[in-house]
Amino acid sequence: MKIAATRIEIENLLLPSRNSGKSIGFVPTMGALHKGHISLVSLSINENDVTVCSIFVNPTQFNDPADLKRYPRPLESDQKMLEEAGCDILFIPSVEEMYPNNDYSLLNEDFGVLDKVMEGQSRPGHFAGMITIVNKLFTYVNPHKAYFGNKDFQQLTLVKYFVKEHHLPILIRECPISRDTDGLAMSSRNRLLSAEERQAATLLSRSLFKVKEMWTGNNITELMTFVETEFAREPILKLDYFEIAHFETLQPLKTPISPDTPIIACIASFAGKIRLIDNIKLQ
Ligand code: PAF
Repeated sequence: MKIAATRIEIENLLLPSRNSGKSIGFVPTMGALHKGHISLVSLSINENDVTVCSIFVNPTQFNDPADLKRYPRPLESDQKMLEEAGCDILFIPSVEEMYPNNDYSLLNEDFGVLDKVMEGQSRPGHFAGMITIVNKLFTYVNPHKAYFGNKDFQQLTLVKYFVKEHHLPILIRECPISRDTDGLAMSSRNRLLSAEERQAATLLSRSLFKVKEMWTGNNITELMTFVETEFAREPILKLDYFEIAHFETLQPLKTPISPDTPIIACIASFAGKIRLIDNIKLQ
């Protein structure tokens, strides 16, 4: 696996492949890789001639400085996992490379309501930082396809919107949530959980699975109460939000809805200091 640390390096490394018409797949990450990331890398390897993975802990998308400070950075083991998976190129730029001269200015993209709800409401500035860095990474890597996990469903929705709005010639490939055997959605932040928090955190997926089972299309209020009650019983967790929303517009839905409306349930909760998210498609 080749390694690039600067824009010039990644552009030069990719130039021969680009010039000979090879397809480039890209998996942007913040590192602390798990099987979910590796499934994106494997999919990219299957679908492209060259696969690039980036690891960059993007400071501007952390609304909480403590979260940024504690974010895991196990670069050596990440590198090993990528090598074993067969990744061709790892891009590991520095903060100075991505924000030269301390210029942290962010894109001011108008996402309408898409970035105002759920994560957007709970993590002010998060999506502006996220889309700024994704746009820079897309510009430097210039891939044919880019791979995003469905756990960050709202992020994925915004990236798809951005690519469409700006007519970027990049196909966004969305990949299913990878889960541990007990249902917990894989996340880089899981490794920060204590044993007790890790155990309690399964309530996120457990309640989503239950909500899917109970879903009739007419019982949103009942389901909201169900989830709130479940979380109120678990002192280690603090529910941030539970929303049942339109799959495309992300508008929260509170009234009875028709069976052909695409619906997703999204949840965010703190386990101690660690914030976790998950979601499930209801119909
Ligand atoms: O999902 C992530 O890991 C990050 O938000 C991303 C897309 C790599 C941008 O920093």
